[in-house]
Amino acid sequence: MRVFKFCWGYLKKYKLQIVLTFLFLMLNSLLAMVSPYISGLIVDDVITAGKHELLFRLLAILISCVLLKSLARYLALMLIEKTSQDFLFDVRNDVYSKMQNMDFSYFDRTKTGDIMTRISGDLQVIRQFIAGSATVVFESMFSFTFAIIILTRMNLMFTLLLLSVTPFIGYFTFSMTNKTKHLKFDWHEQVTRLNSVVQENISGNRVVRAFANEDYEIEKFSKENEGYKREYNRWVDIWKKYLPIINFLGGMMTVIIVLVGGLLVIYEKLSYGELVIFTSLSGTLSVPINMANWLSDQVQKFFTSGEKVIELMIAEPRIQDKEGALEPEKIHGQVEFRNVSFSYNGEKVLKNINIFVKPGQTIGIMGPTGSGKSTLVSLIGRFYDCTEGEILIDGINIKNISKKTLRKNIAIAMQDTFLFSDTIEGNIAYGVPDADFESIKNSATVADAHEFIVKMPEGYDTIVGERGVGLSGGQRQRVSLARALIKDAPILILDDITSSVDVETEQKIQAALKEVYKGKTTFIISHRISAVRNADMIYVLENGRITEQGTHEELLKNDGYYKSVFMIQSGQSAEQSKTLSKVQAGEKIAGKQTEEGNKEETGTQIEEQAVVQTVAKKAKAAV
Ligand SMILES: Nc1ncnc2c1ncn2[C@@H]1O[C@H](COP(=O)(O)OP(=O)(O)OP(=O)(O)O)[C@@H](O)[C@H]1O
Ligand SMILES: [Mg+2]
Repeated sequence: MRVFKFCWGYLKKYKLQIVLTFLFLMLNSLLAMVSPYISGLIVDDVITAGKHELLFRLLAILISCVLLKSLARYLALMLIEKTSQDFLFDVRNDVYSKMQNMDFSYFDRTKTGDIMTRISGDLQVIRQFIAGSATVVFESMFSFTFAIIILTRMNLMFTLLLLSVTPFIGYFTFSMTNKTKHLKFDWHEQVTRLNSVVQENISGNRVVRAFANEDYEIEKFSKENEGYKREYNRWVDIWKKYLPIINFLGGMMTVIIVLVGGLLVIYEKLSYGELVIFTSLSGTLSVPINMANWLSDQVQKFFTSGEKVIELMIAEPRIQDKEGALEPEKIHGQVEFRNVSFSYNGEKVLKNINIFVKPGQTIGIMGPTGSGKSTLVSLIGRFYDCTEGEILIDGINIKNISKKTLRKNIAIAMQDTFLFSDTIEGNIAYGVPDADFESIKNSATVADAHEFIVKMPEGYDTIVGERGVGLSGGQRQRVSLARALIKDAPILILDDITSSVDVETEQKIQAALKEVYKGKTTFIISHRISAVRNADMIYVLENGRITEQGTHEELLKNDGYYKSVFMIQSGQSAEQSKTLSKVQAGEKIAGKQTEEGNKEETGTQIEEQAVVQTVAKKAKAAV
């Protein structure tokens, strides 16, 4: 029922078109009665009674009615086709807008193929039902009613006899529909699974080729395809049992007409002309019966698809704005995590996180893979809501700030560098569509992307393929970084954005970014010490907990994760590292008398020298 309600919600604004369609359909059905009726008159009045002069008059009426009927049907079909297309347009827009509202967790648990099936296949099924099946149903309902009126007026008993098979047919059709109802849902699920396999195969075609796993993919598809066939056959098996009975009962109508109609004519209870009318209109009476199978299939498809679309439409995002959510005009960028914990589906991945960041500070986040770094920063923009504790921006709990305002103030370059199939310029300006070329170029320059972009055949107008195909991994990362930078938001989150670029490029980007960081609260996630070493505070996450925190120098004094990474990355032994720590400590004391910046420079130089020396040593050893 809710499927009808859902459709009516959209269709009611096309009331006039729908009423007109009904009227034209009614006219069409009424005029469809004229041909059999006139045929009857021709047999009785022209042939039997010999009133030959009537023939041309009757023919003229017949032709006019046929013309008018065609026109009425044409208009009805045109109107309903247009209305159903408008309906589809409205629903599709709403479904798409609804999808934009859904949060990360919805997409985490819903397959792309599933959503695609709903947006394309299911909506089309609903439209076809409105424009096709429903129209045919109403058309035959009107014809059925008119035929009954005409026939009962001619011979009530004969009509009732003809209709006597209808309840039996109704019973069998109803039983069949009942038995196949749940199968339709299973079948729909199977269609979705099949679509998902195809969609994943296309998206992951490079992985498939790289692993030469085509045979496995074909097998996977065959399995789902087999499942599709199996589900459909289960439905056909039931259908096969009922169809002969329903067809037999439908055929009984002809037998009744020949037998009873013939007897009535013999006993002069019915004229020849009336038998002709009965014979022609019995077709109209049997249309709904003949349509029963087809209609039950259409109705089930309509309900199944309708339910699927409604499911999507009523799904509520878990993250919603509170009533009267705040929309602060300016966000300064103070970020605080207070006893924050977070679980994905019950599994705790962040435990009791406490972080306080002053506006304009740079925070480095390091930690082993899977330790929760990306999850941590995704909480700032409320892509997920923390399960315990609270996150505050400028002292306001982010749950009290409107999502739009919050996200407008956060620029994020994600670890998964997704690019749209658009020009490079379009990709960079994604968050600021009216950005002028100068600012696009500037952010590309900071991200060290400008140079390679201008070398491309169409420069900034070069179209990149789906997900950024056509660019190297490092190039994609730089375009994605430029996309975040152009937003010029007070909070900047860079999630492992230089993992695919060489050290030299990374240093160039770091230097340029230093300018951009100024005044912005910046979170830098990286596995490389070089990316976070200059941060005001570095947090080390291990297993969802903060295990170390401090500046680069402070962390080097600990014998923890940070230091071990530092040692590995600078290629030093533990012994060398200890010496380095001592040297650094000495430098630090000396540095106290110098400027803050100089102190960092000195530390940097020592480590860089150490790196260079180790690399040189290794190179020698290799030679
Ligand atoms: N959408 C998700 N649904 C369920 N679990 C998830 C999801 N995303 C991440 N996880 C799990 O949460 C944990 C932390 O993941 P996260 O992506 O935050 O790690 P990370 O520190 O960023 O790792 P990396 O350094 O590899 O990027 C992992 O165990 C991961 O399996
Ligand atoms: Mg990550």
